[in-house]
Amino acid sequence: MPNPLVDVPEHIHALLSRLHAESSAQESALSAADFANRTFDEVMQDKFIALDQDKAQFVYQLCRAINAKHVVEAGTSFGVSTIYLALAVAANTSRTGEVGRVIATEYEAAKAAKAREHWRECGEEVLATIDLREGDLRETLQSDLHDIDFLLLDIWTPMALPALKLVQPHMRHGAVVVADNTIGSAEKYKDLLDYLRDPANHFSNMTLPFHNGLEVSVYLPPKSDS
Ligand SMILES: C[S@@+](CC[C@H](N)C(=O)[O-])C[C@H]1O[C@@H](n2cnc3c(N)ncnc32)[C@H](O)[C@@H]1O
Repeated sequence: MPNPLVDVPEHIHALLSRLHAESSAQESALSAADFANRTFDEVMQDKFIALDQDKAQFVYQLCRAINAKHVVEAGTSFGVSTIYLALAVAANTSRTGEVGRVIATEYEAAKAAKAREHWRECGEEVLATIDLREGDLRETLQSDLHDIDFLLLDIWTPMALPALKLVQPHMRHGAVVVADNTIGSAEKYKDLLDYLRDPANHFSNMTLPFHNGLEVSVYLPPKSDS
């Protein structure tokens, strides 16, 4: 299968393959027994739950297609999908010399520290493109959002709609929202999907047939709202 990440250094390809493999191995090893005596947050504290590699490549391709320069990622974990977003933004801005950034969000301090390690391993271009906001995104996304081109919702499902509502007022016309697992977790995403599909909120929507589904929505407010 062709990989859209062209002109990306070999050490980043190698890192991404390693991180995706670690994430998949962790997820396959998870079972109901893990949750028997521990809370969801306790079990997930050391888990990647990274976006699948084909979805991450698709997200990169989309960000290149729409020339995304200002991106928000709701749910960063160990920073795997963030690397794809940062590579896309860096490539888009390098053509014009403009400044772009990926606003990443993570409330587990240990995960944030590990994410920074991975970004350092990628190199200065990736590291410098990312603004990691540590803490609960319902607070960290309250300010300093401008002209958002792209929002990735890869977060525990109850947080997806609050994240969208915080970012939406700062989205440009034609901004793209991607939400993961919208078929597999359709019930848990009901509030998000109802909101996206309500014509009053001005999104056009498609569910793409990736594993467990991937929702791609485009924000198209009428002139007076944008
Ligand atoms: C599915 S993982 C993100 C995976 C990441 N996008 C990747 O591809 O590597 C979701 C992450 O969201 C974080 N999270 C959950 N609720 C949060 C909140 N309210 N604020 C910030 N981060 C949160 C979790 O700690 C978890 O690491």
